[in-house]
Amino acid sequence: MGKVYVFDHPLIQHKLTFIRDKKTGTKEFRELVDEVATLMAFEITRDLPLQEVTIETPVSEAKSKVLAGKKLGLIPILRAGLGMVDGILNLIPAAKVGHVGLYRDPDTLKPVEYYVKLPSDIEERELIVIDPMLATGGSANEAIHVLKKRGARQIRLMCLIAAPEGVEAVKKEHPDVDIYLAAMDEKLNEKGYIVPGLGDAGDRLFGTK
Ligand code: URA
Repeated sequence: MGKVYVFDHPLIQHKLTFIRDKKTGTKEFRELVDEVATLMAFEITRDLPLQEVTIETPVSEAKSKVLAGKKLGLIPILRAGLGMVDGILNLIPAAKVGHVGLYRDPDTLKPVEYYVKLPSDIEERELIVIDPMLATGGSANEAIHVLKKRGARQIRLMCLIAAPEGVEAVKKEHPDVDIYLAAMDEKLNEKGYIVPGLGDAGDRLFGTK
């Protein structure tokens, strides 16, 4: 079963409070999401493998460690996922970025892909699917299906805030996918918003309504 990690680092929690606050305007909201994404990237990369190399310091030879070259891929779900990409790239600049666009079919209410552009070697990469809000889990589940259908084997999901319903839905459909969050909220309301949440992440990031 996939594990769920909630990053309770004080800086993440502090910034998340201002992200949630409805008085926070677009510019500051975007900056804070960017900063939290960087802090989350720091936490999510804790288990990256290292390898030992030998270097020379100005004083002596030294055995030291560098990243073992695991290939990463970031997959933002359009459009709100875009708001977290640059923050993650601050720490992992060599990651490739793929995009998955989904819309909700008005009849079936199911997410349908309208845009998919991925790195050519996704089967070799550890992929991080990014969506700030894990609400019903419908989009995340579909995005993960889209990746698996094209050969992805290692997938993680990173969100700012989740509803328990969304977490359960992803755990059920993709038990191999670990989920990384800044907060787990109470519930979904009747309109599908996370409570207390932060409102519509895409609108708040891009200043639309
Ligand atoms: N998507 C959002 O942007 N906000 C929510 O609360 C739920 C889904």
